[in-house]
Amino acid sequence: MKGNFPIDKFQNVQTPFYYYDTNILRETLNKINREVEKYTNFCVHYAVKANANDKVLSVVRESGLGADCVSGGEIKAAVKAGFPTNKIVYAGVGKSDWEINLGLDYNIFCFNVESIPELNIINELAAAKGKVANVAFRINPNVGAHTHTNITTGLAENKFGISLEDMDKVIDMALTLKNVKFIGLHFHIGSQILDMGDFIALCNRVNELQNKLCNRQIIVEHINVGGGLGIDYQHPNRQPIPDFATYFATYRKHLKLHSKQTLHFELGRSVVGQCGSLITKVLYVKQGAHKQFAIVDAGMTDLIRPALYQAYHKIENITSDAPVEAYDVVGPICESSDVFGKAIDLNQVKRGDLLAIRSAGAYGEIMASSYNCRTLPKGYISEEMV
Ligand code: LLP
Repeated sequence: MKGNFPIDKFQNVQTPFYYYDTNILRETLNKINREVEKYTNFCVHYAVKANANDKVLSVVRESGLGADCVSGGEIKAAVKAGFPTNKIVYAGVGKSDWEINLGLDYNIFCFNVESIPELNIINELAAAKGKVANVAFRINPNVGAHTHTNITTGLAENKFGISLEDMDKVIDMALTLKNVKFIGLHFHIGSQILDMGDFIALCNRVNELQNKLCNRQIIVEHINVGGGLGIDYQHPNRQPIPDFATYFATYRKHLKLHSKQTLHFELGRSVVGQCGSLITKVLYVKQGAHKQFAIVDAGMTDLIRPALYQAYHKIENITSDAPVEAYDVVGPICESSDVFGKAIDLNQVKRGDLLAIRSAGAYGEIMASSYNCRTLPKGYISEEMV
C-alpha cells in the first residue's frame, strides 16, 4: 500500500520539496488532545525543533498545544505562529544572553536550566530587567533509551542536564536567588523510543527524586518528562498515528504525581513525523556492476537522517505501478553517505518518476542545509495543492 498523494498537482512543483498532509497532522493533533483530556493535569508542548515550517506550525498552534523551544530563533518562530508566550518552555545547554533576554521579554512560561552557571546568568539578566524568571532544572536521569546513540540524551555521559548528584546543590542555590523562581524538574531521555519500558525507567527515577525532595519538604509544581515517543518508519500507511493512548497511560500509571502537580510533555517527532514526505524526481537510472541506482534530485542536504543516523525511511515510486525491482536510491551530493536506501524495492523506475520518501515530517526540512551551494527545499501543505 502506498501513501495518498495529489500526483497531478505535483507535476508543476519544483522538486525536491516537502509535502505535508494536513489531514494526517490534524488527526494526530486531535488524537493527542482526546487522550490528554482524559487526564486533568497533563500539558503537551510541541517541540518546535522537529519542524518549524510556518504553515505546519500554525496548524499545530491551532490545536492549542504549547511550544518547546531550544533557541531564540525557535522562540521567535513560535511567537510568530501565535503560540501563547505563557505556554513556551525553553531548554538548551548553551543559551546565549540575547536568547535569555528574549525569553524574559516575552515572559515565557519556564526556562529549563541545564547548569549552575546558566542559573546565575538567568538570575542576573532577570534582575537587570526587574523580573523573576520561572526555572525548572533539567536533571540528567542517567536512564538509557533503546534508540540510536546520537539521539540518546539521558545518560550521565551526555552533555545534557544537571547530574543527579548536583540536584540538591542547584536547588539550594536557586532558593537563595531573588530573580528566579524554582518551579519544576525537567527530563528528556532521547528520541524515537518505542519501548515503553524506557519511559517506565524514567518514571521510576522521577519517583525516586520526588521522594528525596519530599523528605526535604520540597514539592515542585511542574514535572516535565520531555518527548521521545517514536513513530513507525517501516509502516507509515499502516500506523500514521502513534499510539498516544498507551504512551500517556504509561505515564499515568507509573509516575507518582503529587496533587496539584502538572505533568508536561514535549513531543516533536510523534506530532509531525508521519504527515510529511520528501518528494523527489528521478534524474537517471544507472546500471552499476552488481546493482542499479536510482539517482534522484534530493540529497542528504534535504533529508540528512539516513546519512547521519543510518535511519530508515520507506520509499515509494508514486508515479508507477510497473513490476518491482531493487534499486539503491541515491542523491546528487558529492558524499558516499548520500544514500536514501540500499536494495529498495520500487515499482520499476524511469527518468521523471516521482518518489516519496516517507515519514519525513520530523527532523527533515528543518535539518536541511545548503551544502554544495544547493537551494533549500520548500515545504507545502496539502491545502495549498488543491
Ligand atoms: N525535548 C527535548 C529536551 C529534546 O531534546 C527533544 C529532542 C524533544 C523534546 C523532542 O523529542 P521527540 O519527541 O521529537 O523525540 N534529529 C534527530 C532527533 C533529535 C532529537 C533532539 N531532541 C532525528 O532526526 O532523529
